[in-house]
Parts: sequence; C-alpha cells; structure tokens
Amino acid sequence: MSLEIQPLDQALGAEVSGIDLTQPLGIEDGQAINDAFLEHHLLCFRSATLAPEEFAAVARHFGEPQLQLIRNKRHGEVPEVSVLDSTYKSAADKPADFKLNRKAGWHTDDSYFEVPAKVTLLQSIEIPDSGGHTQFCNTRKAYEELTGEEKKRIDSLKAVHAYDTMRTPARAAKRTQEEIDETPEVVHPLVRTNEDSGAKAIYFNPNRTDRIVGMGREESDSLLDWIHETITQDKYRYDHEWRTGDLLIWDNRCLVHSVNVDFPVGQTRMHQRILLTGARPQ
Ligand SMILES: [Fe+2]
Repeated sequence: MSLEIQPLDQALGAEVSGIDLTQPLGIEDGQAINDAFLEHHLLCFRSATLAPEEFAAVARHFGEPQLQLIRNKRHGEVPEVSVLDSTYKSAADKPADFKLNRKAGWHTDDSYFEVPAKVTLLQSIEIPDSGGHTQFCNTRKAYEELTGEEKKRIDSLKAVHAYDTMRTPARAAKRTQEEIDETPEVVHPLVRTNEDSGAKAIYFNPNRTDRIVGMGREESDSLLDWIHETITQDKYRYDHEWRTGDLLIWDNRCLVHSVNVDFPVGQTRMHQRILLTGARPQ
C-alpha cells in the first residue's frame, strides 16, 4: 500500500488512500498527510466504521482530543467521542423551512469558546439513502480573493461570538447551568492567521457570531451579511456525499460547514465526532 492524495474539488478537500489509520503512521506518511491537510483543509479517508476507542486512537495521530460542551452527547465510555444522531424520528421533527434546523446553518465548530477546537474529525456510522450531505466553504480562499480595499476594511476587526445569536433563524441546543457558565460571550478576530501555515482566513460563524466590536447593530449586520454571502459562494464550496465509514478531518480555522437537512424521515443518520484542541485565534 502506498499513500495517495487526490483533490476532491477545486474549492477544497482531498481524498487520502493507501493508508491504515488504525496503525502507527510513518514519519514520511505523517508529513505528507499534514502537508495535504494544510493545503486542502479537509481530508477524506474511506474507512471501515471504527469503534469509539479506535476512533479516539486515530484522532491522536492529528492532535489532542477535547471534550465537547454538551454532556449528553458525549460517549459513555470514551467521552472525547460525541455521538451525533441527526435522524428525523418523526415527520414533526423535519421542518418545512430547512433554515429552522440548526444543522443547516453555516458554522465552524465551537467558536463560542475562547480557545475553539482547531480540527474536527467526523465519521459516518449510518447514513440515509439520499440527502444529508455535509457542505464546506473555504474561507481562506474567500479572504485571499477579496480586493485590497475589502481586506483593509475587515483586517483589524473583532467579533463577538456567543452560544446563540438572533442573527440566525434556528435556536441553539439547550444548555445546563454548568454548560451556560462555561460559555460566556467571547471576542475573536474577524480575520485569523493559521498558526501552522501562516495563511489568513475569514473567521466567521453564522450560527454564533453576533456582532462586530465597536459597531452599531445595523452596520454590523450589514457587514456580517456581506461576509456570509461572500464566503458561501459556489466557487468556494465542496459538498460531501457520505459513504458509510467515511472519516473526514477538517480545519475549523479556515472552513465553515453546514448540513443539507433534506433527508428522509425515519432513516438513521448517525456520526461520531472528535474535536482537537487548538490555540486562541490570532
Ligand atoms: Fe459542526
């Protein structure tokens, strides 16, 4: 078996084959995978479904797993693994307006933390017959293609990230008091520099970014609306059509993602997820 890396799309992403992630990675393969990750921002490994402890061992090739905020999503025996069940159990669970499903909103994971997870690993355990793709947009490319004037306008701005914002139509998951206490509002730069590659990217989370520091609501909303429109253009976007066992690893510092929530009622859609500890955005 030899390692192969094939781009998935011109916007972002690459598929990696010829490697068994459940075995230790050699230095050369590890380096090649790391380089591909920094270039493509998302890697897809076609894999067998892993047991939670195997999944956690795979994640440690890439960094340090951290616990997810919402306690009841943590796996009982391997708490760094979250079990994400997005199945529509009944017709009443599936809104007519998909925007009312929180997963449909573009976001980057955990930006409501002062030190958000830099990387997410997500593996499909069971997928519906149709729909349910996860979509990604490349906010590094979106930043790089701004005009000099536009970059100047946003380069030194800071934004407030909150667990929820009224800017988005669907409400966030309920938190316990302990979870509320752990998630006060935080401020992040609107343009962040990837500490591993030095590349700048727009750091905006439509589900969580509430406002620009120092701006009134109207001015802030109109700037954030423009950023939202800019980063989600088709040319920056890749749609991942899941196969069972697909293991994706992506960079939350320069991608946003959302779920196409148009999948059938009653068909199981389940993933397991691990977040990797990052650095404070700069
Ligand atoms: Fe997410």
